[in-house]
Amino acid sequence: MHKVKYGIIGTGMIAGIHAEAIRQLENAELYMVYDKDPSRARAFAQKYHCQFSPDFETFLKSDIEAVTIATPSGFHAEAAIPAACAGKHILCEKPIETTVEKAEALINRCAENNVLLSTVFQSRFAKNVTLIKKAIDDGRFGKPVLASASIRWFRTPEYYTNAGWRGTWLLDGGGALMNQGIHTADLLLYFNGDVESVHAYANRALHQSIEVEDTIVASIKFKNDSLGVLEASTACAPGFPRRVELSGTQGSVVLEGDRIVRWQFTDENPKDEEIRRICGQGEGLQGGFASPDGISCEGHRRQLQELTDAILRGQALSVPGTEGKRVIELICAIYESAEAGYPVKISTGIAPCGN
Ligand SMILES: NC(=O)c1ccc[n+]([C@@H]2O[C@H](COP(=O)([O-])OP(=O)(O)OC[C@H]3O[C@@H](n4cnc5c(N)ncnc54)[C@H](O)[C@@H]3O)[C@@H](O)[C@H]2O)c1
Repeated sequence: MHKVKYGIIGTGMIAGIHAEAIRQLENAELYMVYDKDPSRARAFAQKYHCQFSPDFETFLKSDIEAVTIATPSGFHAEAAIPAACAGKHILCEKPIETTVEKAEALINRCAENNVLLSTVFQSRFAKNVTLIKKAIDDGRFGKPVLASASIRWFRTPEYYTNAGWRGTWLLDGGGALMNQGIHTADLLLYFNGDVESVHAYANRALHQSIEVEDTIVASIKFKNDSLGVLEASTACAPGFPRRVELSGTQGSVVLEGDRIVRWQFTDENPKDEEIRRICGQGEGLQGGFASPDGISCEGHRRQLQELTDAILRGQALSVPGTEGKRVIELICAIYESAEAGYPVKISTGIAPCGN
């Protein structure tokens, strides 16, 4: 059986999840890693039994067929564009980049070089997320009324001081929303469609030393006329699993972590009772709300399986690069509104991000 040879660029915290997820795939192998700090790449290669390259050129010239991008967010395009030009398929960590322009440049270079680009949104691969999406597509909620999400997470001051890029506009692209809340913002778009306009407030409730927000709230008007609230924080002790709450004229659902804790419709069907019983347990995929570790690698494994199958068999990607750009457009508009103090419409073109 042909195994897709993977490389990892950036061998920090999340790279360990990538390596473990690749190890669990039958039709893939971790071939080589690269980090701009060669000592980190060497130690990582020893731990995960693969090669490491001390320089980027040698890494790109190797037999690697696909790379995962695990560098600080503002270095994603810088790492991924040369890889795309060298013909490597790409799984890029979230956020795909820190500005809409940089996200667009990456998407375009991948298309020009005919390589696949998927952006990590491992939450999309949870079974209960798929179940909710199907209920929406089946029209079970009736007319959408409210779509809201809450990410009341906690990070210690050391989380920011241990890696200098975190909490900066240039390399993190934002704070609690761009880094931690982005998965849930993506779910709001996935479930309820595009946003028309936002009005936001942001502040630093705990982490005074960072440039970006640690707490943010946005009210949202969706293009389908429904409304919602998106709140994200890394200052809320002790940190709770994220919540997504969807309500329509015919039904409502609440997702907490990856558990469905409410599932109620005006017109119930025979499976609803079973869904309430089984789906309340979830799959244990959600972690990271109280500290950055404890993330399961299962979501990444499913997404990497999809990319591997797409490389080997031409199967479609469910989270292409354009999905990564869509959520950056939303987040940048929320930041623009918080900065300006007035509502901002989402443009489909370039929106400024940070300052
Ligand atoms: N999907 C998730 O749930 C999840 C969770 C955590 C982090 N992330 C994302 O993963 C990315 C990395 O986060 P992290 O916490 O692992 O960071 P980290 O600081 O722990 O590791 C980053 C690594 O990249 C290396 N590096 C920096 N610039 C580089 C470059 N230009 N080329 C090659 N290597 C370079 C650093 O030396 C370091 O080893 C971020 O984009 C973050 O948002 C995603």
